Amino acid sequence: MLAIDLRGKRAFVAGVADDGGFGFAIAKALAEAGAKVSVGTWPPALGICTTMLERGKLDKSLELSSGDKLAFEKIYPLDADFDTEADIPAELRQSKRYRDLPDPSIQGVAERLRADFGEGGVDIVVHSLANGPEVKKPMLETSRKGYLAAIGVSAYSYISMVQRLAPLMPRGGAFLALTYMASERVIPGYGGGMSSAKAALESDTRTLSYEAGRRWGVRVNTISAGPYASRAASAIGFIHDMIAYCSANAPLTDELEAHEVGSTAAFLCSPLASAITGTTVYVDKGYHAMGMAVASVASPTERAAK
Ligand SMILES: NC(=O)c1ccc[n+]([C@@H]2O[C@H](COP(=O)([O-])OP(=O)(O)OC[C@H]3O[C@@H](n4cnc5c(N)ncnc54)[C@H](O)[C@@H]3O)[C@@H](O)[C@H]2O)c1
Repeated sequence: MLAIDLRGKRAFVAGVADDGGFGFAIAKALAEAGAKVSVGTWPPALGICTTMLERGKLDKSLELSSGDKLAFEKIYPLDADFDTEADIPAELRQSKRYRDLPDPSIQGVAERLRADFGEGGVDIVVHSLANGPEVKKPMLETSRKGYLAAIGVSAYSYISMVQRLAPLMPRGGAFLALTYMASERVIPGYGGGMSSAKAALESDTRTLSYEAGRRWGVRVNTISAGPYASRAASAIGFIHDMIAYCSANAPLTDELEAHEVGSTAAFLCSPLASAITGTTVYVDKGYHAMGMAVASVASPTERAAK
């Protein structure tokens, strides 16, 4: 039997703060395949996340098919806006949600992973986070500050993670990030430079795959997911319209489920995908392949049938 077997592997999934997004679904799929999983959680969301876990609010979602409950090995505070502790403005570092935390920069998390699991102790790193403070603004109204913030958190952070975490990984380790097709096609309303951030993320995936492949023997990929009503996506404001549009126009008309992204991620991070790197894999019910909307006009097949 050919199965995804991640027993003996350890994963770090950055961008998990509840059970409603792709990060959680990926963490769960990796655990289903046998990996030990730690997560990185944005400090402003950390308190709510740990309270939900402590109060058992996520228990149902954490249930694995074996009947066991997924328990994260570690939950690391992570603010992917910052590469080192020195980059965090003093006012933010001393604010209520940050002051009692260990260094939440990407470097800080890398050091804790090294201390907790040692050299070669992390096999899989997933980047499932994005933030665009001006995402609701059209590009024509986006400020330089908002644009650079979107690119910094949503794209550069992947480069920073590969720089800092690949040295901790054994050869054959895998990086994976989440992107969206607004990188290559116009999605009206997906603003604030987020489309540019996703374009950068996909381009960087190719370059990183070459550089990190040659230097450390690790793989670097992205999944381009279809629309899904996570907390982050719901903040954009019209996610349900995006989902309905995809259902009406994609080759496969049922709505995308997060576990479908999770299982593709588990495959891509497994030794079964040992020759796949530098690639963006679409997990979007085939929507990316379409060149014409079918909802508004009859398709040639439908026209012929009339
Ligand atoms: N939901 C969709 O329709 C969709 C489609 C394609 C791609 N994606 C991508 O999937 C990834 C995960 O998003 P999701 O939709 O599952 O939503 P989500 O809300 O589950 O995940 C986004 C996470 O990013 C975290 N985050 C925000 N700023 C951060 C920072 N500075 N440092 C660390 N973490 C930070 C949030 O706390 C949250 O946990 C993102 O890259 C997103 O762009 C989402």
